[in-house]
Amino acid sequence: MQRAPSGWEEYKKLVNEIFQMIPDKEMYRDAALERCRVCSVVGNSGNLINSHYGPMIDDGDFVLRINRGPTKGFEQDVGSKTTHRIIYPASAVDMDNSTHMVFFAFKTADLKWLAHMFTSHNVERGKMPVKSGIKANVNLVMVVSPSFMKYVHHQWLQKHGRYPSTGFMTLIMALHICDKVRVYGFGADRQGYWHHYFEKILPKQKTGHHGGNFENAILKELHQRKKVELYV
Ligand code: C5P
Repeated sequence: MQRAPSGWEEYKKLVNEIFQMIPDKEMYRDAALERCRVCSVVGNSGNLINSHYGPMIDDGDFVLRINRGPTKGFEQDVGSKTTHRIIYPASAVDMDNSTHMVFFAFKTADLKWLAHMFTSHNVERGKMPVKSGIKANVNLVMVVSPSFMKYVHHQWLQKHGRYPSTGFMTLIMALHICDKVRVYGFGADRQGYWHHYFEKILPKQKTGHHGGNFENAILKELHQRKKVELYV
């Protein structure tokens, strides 16, 4: 967690405020032998175009989508079901009433954004443009503990990069809460471009910031060791 200028007092106050608005309970600690929860983790890679993975993705008990990744108009390749959408303020989009907003806070200002979103809708603007009035069901909001993000950064990424990508944190989260993890939309497309399936390819995207190499190597290893199924 990036430190707040006003220190931890503000952080603690915000956490209190947030958990008075949203459910304050631990989720998905219900692992049992008779349960097999299949999850589709859907990244935003252009390798989804013409994949026809839509029906298989929707077949998952949980379908976790990341940031802005839309479904409308892309159903055949990415499906239409979204049980969880993983976001941070700058990537937030409207979601329907049955989707869990899974919130990653990188700094105290992000928690402030969340608190204000469901109260006044007056959001302070930081360096990144953020939307102020996101539609989401307040009763389904889940906030990921900053200690989980730290765990992913330290244990899985050996502190590579400033912090893990939203996609990588979602992948590790899925390993914790699902019994079978199927991964779609991660990595470059067949021509080596790192673009989004919902955007045109820009020339500079030959090696995009998602080249994130270390994360990708881990994903491939997880696939090789049969811990996840990676669909490219
Ligand atoms: O670009 P964005 O961060 O919204 O994408 C969500 C996630 O999808 C990324 O964090 C990354 O893990 C994955 N992604 C990818 N290759 C791309 C685009 C996205 O692996 N070309």
